[in-house]
Amino acid sequence: RTVAVLLAGGIGVRVGLGIPKQLIKIAGKAIVEHTLEVVNASPLIDEIIIVMNAGAIDQLTPLLDPGRFPKLSKIIPGGDTRNDSTQAALAAIDESPDTKVLFHDAVRPFVNERILRDCVEALETYDAVDTAIPSADTIIQVDQSNHISGIPDRSTLRRGQTPQAFRAGTIRRAYEIANKDPNFHATDDCGVVFAYLPDTPIFVIDGTAENMKVTEPIDVHIADKIFQMQSDSLADTATLPDLEGKVVVVLGGSYGI
Ligand code: CTP
Repeated sequence: RTVAVLLAGGIGVRVGLGIPKQLIKIAGKAIVEHTLEVVNASPLIDEIIIVMNAGAIDQLTPLLDPGRFPKLSKIIPGGDTRNDSTQAALAAIDESPDTKVLFHDAVRPFVNERILRDCVEALETYDAVDTAIPSADTIIQVDQSNHISGIPDRSTLRRGQTPQAFRAGTIRRAYEIANKDPNFHATDDCGVVFAYLPDTPIFVIDGTAENMKVTEPIDVHIADKIFQMQSDSLADTATLPDLEGKVVVVLGGSYGI
């Protein structure tokens, strides 16, 4: 059995639009609705739970007609931190340690079936799976004086995305141990397994550049553009566009033809 958890317990302070960012409408729908559509359409997913910012559940429910999302079983209130929201979801999932659980940021609407499949398939071999892409930028480490203290070899670095997928028993055990640690601090769920179950290998599957997290104001525009590109590529599958009279941007220069 495979359960997908959409994490939507945050506020979206950095986007700063005054509503939780998962409710921002892009391409006609709330971001969380787009994400839910992809996950609900996957034949690999049996059940979906949304962990929603408690103060905004009333704004979410009218968007989610159960006829449209038959796999959506529960909308539960999130916690103060992302890790608290994860644990709220774990408490709402069946007890079986073998259940496969995928945690996905509700604000990554461009997750796709290939990524979901790679996660679910990797759980046949591994108990913990992360999704990541290579880093185009060099990542530098700085100390408290803002001096460079390290430049890790870029070829060994990845940018973590979601889904993060687990056998339920593994992620539960990791949190049980973490909760006894007074210094517990993590922002994601693989981090909890990595820190508290160090003998558990975490396999990494390939994400995509599009699987971005709407985090800063500019990301709302980027997401809007990606939706536009997706609908354009659906629209002109057979014929090349007629470019006559249009302005085409080639390598940064504009040319009228
Ligand atoms: N999240 C959650 N519960 C929290 C905090 C975050 O479920 N208490 C979710 C967010 O809703 C989001 C994902 O975790 O889908 C990634 O977190 P982030 O981008 O940091 O979201 P916010 O906390 O909403 O953003 P900000 O820090 O700008 O307020």
